Amino acid sequence: MYLDNELYVANADGAKLCITGKMANRHGLIAGATGTGKTVTLQVLAETFSQAGVPCFMADMKGDLSGIAKAGKLSGFIEKRKDGFGIPDPQFAPCPVRFFDVFAEQGEPIKTTIANMGPQLLARLMELNETQSGVLAIAFQIAEDEGLNLITAEDLSSLLNYIGKNAKDYTTKYGNVTSASVGAIQRALLAIKSEGAENFFGLPAFNVSDFIRTKDGRGIMNVLAADKLMLKPKLYSTFLLWLLTDLYQTLPEVGDMDLPKLVFFFDEAHMLFEDTSKQLTDKIEQIVRLIRSKGVGVYFITQSPTDIPDDILGQLGNRVQHALRAFTPKDQKAVRAAADTFRANPNFKTDEAIMNLETGEALVSFLDPKGAPSIVERAKILFPLSQIGAITVDERAAFMAEYKQNTPTPTNSEGAAAVLDKRNAETEKAAEEAAAEKERAAAEKIAEKERLAAEKEAARLKKEAEREAKAKEKEREKSRKETMKTVNTVTKAIGLPSILRTIVKSFFKK
Ligand SMILES: Nc1ncnc2c1ncn2[C@@H]1O[C@H](COP(=O)(O)OP(=O)(O)OP(=O)(O)O)[C@@H](O)[C@H]1O
Ligand SMILES: [Mg+2]
Repeated sequence: MYLDNELYVANADGAKLCITGKMANRHGLIAGATGTGKTVTLQVLAETFSQAGVPCFMADMKGDLSGIAKAGKLSGFIEKRKDGFGIPDPQFAPCPVRFFDVFAEQGEPIKTTIANMGPQLLARLMELNETQSGVLAIAFQIAEDEGLNLITAEDLSSLLNYIGKNAKDYTTKYGNVTSASVGAIQRALLAIKSEGAENFFGLPAFNVSDFIRTKDGRGIMNVLAADKLMLKPKLYSTFLLWLLTDLYQTLPEVGDMDLPKLVFFFDEAHMLFEDTSKQLTDKIEQIVRLIRSKGVGVYFITQSPTDIPDDILGQLGNRVQHALRAFTPKDQKAVRAAADTFRANPNFKTDEAIMNLETGEALVSFLDPKGAPSIVERAKILFPLSQIGAITVDERAAFMAEYKQNTPTPTNSEGAAAVLDKRNAETEKAAEEAAAEKERAAAEKIAEKERLAAEKEAARLKKEAEREAKAKEKEREKSRKETMKTVNTVTKAIGLPSILRTIVKSFFKK
């Protein structure tokens, strides 16, 4: 509860325990066995920030955080404790809430583009090896150079196809693109699509700084329905990492402010690290460390502190430890590990206290204004002013209807798939035209050949006719000469006078 300018969240024997606003971006941890009050503690913290004007984002794994949108009421449990908190007359009230859902069923869709997610996160999501990641990076570079919008998974798939088909045109400029790598990326893309990733890629792309909003001076609670999403741990962790990365890249450096700009709560945080590669865990660690300077606090909620990798655990300054059970040696080890992270209080033994805490009770240590952890206190966590537990399906439907009324018109932007479809069609048309041209040229060549052959044949026939005519002429000449010879011989023989012979000869000559 935001009371007298203080972020009041717990009470130790009448002493108020408040988070130091300036240190709220030094992150936090809420741990404890099942049913000990972690989610309610999250709710109390978040609603306190909201009352102070700080917006929050929370992944709601079981749906029980949705109650934050409704006013709470006095239960027997709260009735019993309220005076101890110094709040005899609690003003129950809802928080301003925006519901989100990657699958667009329980809240506003939250989408980003493939381009915005970037090749690195995408390669991690698809679990690509180094070579395949290299090819993916090349694909992104080509998209940028050629002004192709990578919006949906379909766009990326089309681009990969195109690059695969035209690999030789790209290899000199961008490096080797083998069809084996392209095929492997296509298969990985198909796998994440079947996991539901395609709901997440598209337009309108969500602007993460939209989380940073207030209403009537209260920070908006951005509640992400994660019950379905948590079944896809890879997608879930990459999605949250994208949110943090995008926020980190978008927000300006601010240093320590009196209050954080935004607080993230990851309930069931062990999900973030289960089956998560070392690379991805390192990336989460890095971004959690860096985002502090942007005024963003990150709070992890999980059963045992040992669920969180040490590098990240070391960065969580504000701690609320609910009860842990210690049935097995492993449990006992976890209790000791949890106890060791606190500055001891001389009034009680930390490890014993951890095992004896009641529901809604916790060991609490917040950072003091100088950033040092305070001595651990055994305290009762405040009750929330909003409702504990989920809202009904109808109540959620009312929120959805309100959102749908104000649905932004989708931005019309042409993705790479459409552009490449056109480009492929143009290439096909050009190829068809080239083939037709080739056919026409070939037909022309044949016609020319035939024409030349016909010409040659005509010339040959002409020559032959001439030759025949010549031969005939020769024949005629020959027979004429023979006739003359005979005439000559005959006229000579019969002794015709020369004048008559000349007359006879000239007659035959004709
Ligand atoms: N600070 C509190 N004020 C009032 N009631 C509380 C408080 N903490 C816990 N409770 C009660 O205890 C119940 C269980 O708490 P909660 O759901 O937060 O446990 P949890 O540790 O998140 O459990 P799980 O591990 O199953 O998620 C709540 O439904 C609520 O009735
Ligand atoms: Mg819970």
